[in-house]
Amino acid sequence: MAKLDELKNLEAEIAADRNLPLRESNLVFGEGSPDAEVMFIGEAPGFHEDRLGRPFVGMAGKLLDKLLTMVGWDRKDVYISNIVKRRPPENRDPLPEEIAAYKPYLARQIEIINPKAIVPLGRFSMNYFLPEAKISRDQGRVFIYQGRKVIPMLHPAAALRQGAFMKTLEESFKRLPDLITGHPPAGGPTISATAEPEKIPEKKKEPPPMQSLF
Ligand code: URA
Repeated sequence: MAKLDELKNLEAEIAADRNLPLRESNLVFGEGSPDAEVMFIGEAPGFHEDRLGRPFVGMAGKLLDKLLTMVGWDRKDVYISNIVKRRPPENRDPLPEEIAAYKPYLARQIEIINPKAIVPLGRFSMNYFLPEAKISRDQGRVFIYQGRKVIPMLHPAAALRQGAFMKTLEESFKRLPDLITGHPPAGGPTISATAEPEKIPEKKKEPPPMQSLF
């Protein structure tokens, strides 16, 4: 079956699944090229996404579009989706049980698209693939998850809230094409030792707290 048909069937299956939470919101399945080499995965749709039924179309989406343009990509050529495919009320964080309920569908969406690399946006999405990772430490690093690259990035909404995050996100995003093809620019930050999620580099031992002399 063609990938597009497989995706349509999967979307219909999600729409029909009465056990899924958040059914009072609209389904935002995902969009982009079914043959995309890169799949961006956010956390859950927000107000604008819920209204239009499309992922990343609000302020965070505009920033994502800008970042894609910066590296010469178009959103039609990548695939964009979320872990949780319906908007949580008041844009609250998705609950663990909501993530768990939508998880098998995301796994199948990834299987169909079969991208070379996955870019989780923000910690919720990152922790789906890399439960032990820390977004501040691991954003922009390359991990291997079930045979494909996973390169977590800061969530664009976080970058819109904090200028320092914007700089980090832009810098990491600029390196994305090279990280995906496996040829990081000379002198650029080192790619982490590739790790299956359970083999994430061990946490560095924290130095003992400084003793105050006073
Ligand atoms: N934030 C997300 O995580 N996903 C969207 O689709 C929009 C905003």
